[in-house]
Amino acid sequence: MNLSPIYKYGEKQEIYCQKIKDYYKNVLKIKSPKAFVKTYGCQQNVSDSEKYKGMLVNMGFCLTENQEDADVILFNTCAIRENAENKAFGNIGWVKNLKKANENLFIILCGCMTEQKNIIDKIKLKFSFIDLVFGTHSVHKFPLHFYEALLNKKSNGKTSAKAYIKETEDIIAEDFPMVKNNNLKAFLPIMYGCNNFCSYCIVPYVRGRERSRHSNEIISEFKKLLESGYKDITLLGQNVNSYGKGLEEDINFPKLLKKLDSFEGEYTIRFMTSHPKDATNELFDVISNSKHIAHHMHLPVQCGSNKILEKMNRKYTKESYLKIIDYAKSKIPDIVFTSDIIVGFPGETYEDFLETIDILKKVKFHSLFTFIYSPREGTPAAKLSDPVTKRKKTARLLELLKVQEEISEDLHKKMLGKTFRALAESFLPETNELLCRISGNIIVEAKGEKEKVGNFLNVLITGYKKDSLKGKII
Ligand code: 5AD
Ligand code: SF4
Repeated sequence: MNLSPIYKYGEKQEIYCQKIKDYYKNVLKIKSPKAFVKTYGCQQNVSDSEKYKGMLVNMGFCLTENQEDADVILFNTCAIRENAENKAFGNIGWVKNLKKANENLFIILCGCMTEQKNIIDKIKLKFSFIDLVFGTHSVHKFPLHFYEALLNKKSNGKTSAKAYIKETEDIIAEDFPMVKNNNLKAFLPIMYGCNNFCSYCIVPYVRGRERSRHSNEIISEFKKLLESGYKDITLLGQNVNSYGKGLEEDINFPKLLKKLDSFEGEYTIRFMTSHPKDATNELFDVISNSKHIAHHMHLPVQCGSNKILEKMNRKYTKESYLKIIDYAKSKIPDIVFTSDIIVGFPGETYEDFLETIDILKKVKFHSLFTFIYSPREGTPAAKLSDPVTKRKKTARLLELLKVQEEISEDLHKKMLGKTFRALAESFLPETNELLCRISGNIIVEAKGEKEKVGNFLNVLITGYKKDSLKGKII
């Protein structure tokens, strides 16, 4: 049974939204307050930020793209690698200057970084001008925490409230207001958290245990998106293939996909991320028989060496991964695979690295997200000895990128002369080109009119480079 409590947006949140609205108007005397939201990291964070923005609008804020203009700045942070944290700290440090000029400026820090004790210690020491800090488990209490911190700040005079909110309950937030950036492509979370504990990864510690949303909530949100004109909807979860575990209803990810595939009209269903250990034949059977599910799968392999995969606690081998790929390609010949690769995991030898190169060549991924291993405090891998220098790791990464470039170029070459159905997503006025996304999640640039944006078109591939495709609308 799914024990995660569900919190629906309602009166509890609205009361505090109204109080904040009144506070800005009557106490701070700011007529039309502005809020700036900066999001780091993955699509889950982007999706959470849509909720923060929705609530900020209900609190009476206008959203601004200019942080120098803002009365409230919210940083929704990412902890996946050290450089993500450094980027956020850099920006937060810079914002301190804005605070000198505007004592009412209210700074909020939330997201994955704030779930780590070492980060909170650093914030207390170096960034104590931040007014409110809360973690990934508090989305539903944002209006309450914000209001209390506002009052605190007032009672403390010019000093900041230094409110550090730590909650641990793994909740599901439903019916929250949302502000989306795009009116064609939407992200729809189907589950939260992760139970996999890959040895290098901080996510299970900062996002809590895996929990699935009820399918009726997902389906009704999905239908609303279609009714509002969205054409490309990505289902989100750290491991969508284990969707449904713990729910009372008889459902799993392929069954959910089937339900979402059953609506009228032209639209594309995408999903990410998939864990190879849970990618079943049933999933590929459903995709191959579907009308709307994209022929694309992002299936992070991380590396090709069985020794390293075991140390990573990934629970599959190079051979079992390749078996999944073979089955998928036999069912869906035009399926496009993409992946995540970590180079330089502790103990990775050059021979291990060559196994990764080998799997790249065997699968022929269309593109990759590549990372150099970044130790995360509190994860098992951070305790492993890691004798390989950063320089050597960088050299391996460059070698890998070169191999991948050739593979991508080769795949593009094979697309030449073929016609694909593609959604015209945007228009480039400088070149009069439409950017069109095919089912396999590849962008094709083709001459066309701006008015075609939002339509599915047939695009003939007429040219390619290693990192782009040219086409002609036919
Ligand atoms: N170091 C480098 N890359 C990492 N990832 C996750 N944790 C780390 C880490 N500590 C990568 C994995 C994952 C992607 C989202 O981020 O490749 O699939
Ligand atoms: Fe991290 Fe592994 Fe969970 Fe992905 S599946 S979020 S890499 S622990």
